[in-house]
Amino acid sequence: MSISRALLLSLMFSFALTTFAETHNYAFTVQEQAANRLCKNHRIVNVNGQFPGPTLDVQNGDSVAVKVTNASPYNLTIHWHGLRQLRNPWADGPEFVTQCPIRPGGSYTYKFTIQDQEGTLWWHAHSRWLRATVYGALVIRPKSGSSYPFPTPKVEFPVILGEWWDRKVISVLRQALFSGAAPNISDAITINGQPGDLFRCSSQGTTKLTVNKGDTVLLRVINAALNQQLFFSVANHKLTVVATDAIYTKQFTTNVIMVGPGQTTDVLLTADQQPGRYYMAARAYATAQNAPFDNTTATAILEYKSATTQPILPQLPFYNDTNTVTAFSNQIKSPGKVAVPTKIDENLFFTMGFGFFNCTPGPRCQGPNNTRFGASMNNVSFVLPNRVSLLQAYTQKIPNVYTPDFPPVPPLQFDYTGNVPRGLWQPVKGTKLYKLKFGSSVQIILQDTSIFSTEDHPVHLHGYHFYIVGQGFGNFNPSRDTANFNLVDPPQRNTIDVPVGGWAAIRFVADNPGVWLMHCHIDTHLAWGFAMAFIVENGVGESETLLPPPSDLPKC
Ligand code: C2O
Repeated sequence: MSISRALLLSLMFSFALTTFAETHNYAFTVQEQAANRLCKNHRIVNVNGQFPGPTLDVQNGDSVAVKVTNASPYNLTIHWHGLRQLRNPWADGPEFVTQCPIRPGGSYTYKFTIQDQEGTLWWHAHSRWLRATVYGALVIRPKSGSSYPFPTPKVEFPVILGEWWDRKVISVLRQALFSGAAPNISDAITINGQPGDLFRCSSQGTTKLTVNKGDTVLLRVINAALNQQLFFSVANHKLTVVATDAIYTKQFTTNVIMVGPGQTTDVLLTADQQPGRYYMAARAYATAQNAPFDNTTATAILEYKSATTQPILPQLPFYNDTNTVTAFSNQIKSPGKVAVPTKIDENLFFTMGFGFFNCTPGPRCQGPNNTRFGASMNNVSFVLPNRVSLLQAYTQKIPNVYTPDFPPVPPLQFDYTGNVPRGLWQPVKGTKLYKLKFGSSVQIILQDTSIFSTEDHPVHLHGYHFYIVGQGFGNFNPSRDTANFNLVDPPQRNTIDVPVGGWAAIRFVADNPGVWLMHCHIDTHLAWGFAMAFIVENGVGESETLLPPPSDLPKC
């Protein structure tokens, strides 16, 4: 290459960089402040005085630096849910997994670049239950010069579903972890932090979205609820699904969507109805048997300009309408043929569900039949370290923090979704990780168990998105089910809501080195030990090797 051509190319390259990629600087101050809901006042933790917190609005390819200052009385971290954080787990955020918490009075700047991701993600606290009120949207628009794979909507609106407690969430959690019983359910479902018109003292604050007749609207629906899968529907309006978890999908139209905790779903809606006011509504999809859940309905109003009519409610499916959920999730597919790994190097099988620890009857043994509630994957109930993060222990070779012996298959085979003998109900506590070679192709069968109760669990993998090649009910049967895998256009997600009493098969290539948590995104289950973590080793050369830790990484 001649010198002038090289010069020209490098000039063009830097021109492209300066023109198209921006760096966004944000400052988050996390603090505790009074908030009024449901006729009551109590203090919640929020960001910059906002609840939900600020929306990060960026473009694919941009770099982001968020300086988080912890002015709250709690240790905390922030996680950028669904961002791949290539070679950069230092910015991922889960407490004691990739970093030690930011202490009260401390700060940490999360620096990352958005690489080939577009759509709706979100951020949330990743320390105990603080994410109940510490969350916000992370909107990634197409690069300049490219556009959505659908006509640009007139209006865009984040719809962040949440759960509200009338008490400090930290004390709700503390009480549950003391007693061993299930924690109190929430007092309201919320949309953008507001319960809406169906709750006492709430109509003033009801979230409203005003549109003109004929507008197309992109709703970015995020389930930020701590513990609850939710149905979402808009009265009289059809929803066209265009993306899930910041991956475009084949488009399809539906009256209702179901979003698991951690998941996002982008839907288009056209304001083509009689000018009026229509409720957008969310309420529980709940599958655990005999378990209490928050059965309230959150509403927001879709309001045609200057309409004043009484809003109409949409019809939502019944709380345990699994048929509707199955029909809905079966329609989620990639837009076309995708490159699913077919030669599998790591064939993993993880059972997942509840467990119970026997204990001495008393105040700390208030779970069912004198036990303490637990949860596990492959019978290991995950315990987070508390003096150093897993990532630091791994990179600095600090002994006795974890063991790399997470089992690839359950220690015992049994009829997972049948009548499980009580002798198999007690898991083992441990901090067990599973090592993956860089570049290996991984398949994981996630198998629900009926220990205590079956339930659909939203399983989230940090640092990756994966293909969902199959799902079904009952026990996974390799000879029958493998043949039916969709290896053509399966959906890609970062969180899979595994069917209740069933299984899901996911595949990904382990091409992002680091320590990556996989866990149930129901925070109650996470607190009980429903998690494990992968170590993905470095590959060859710089582009396959972990970045060094940032200098302001919080001290342990
Ligand atoms: Cu959205 Cu481990 O989290």
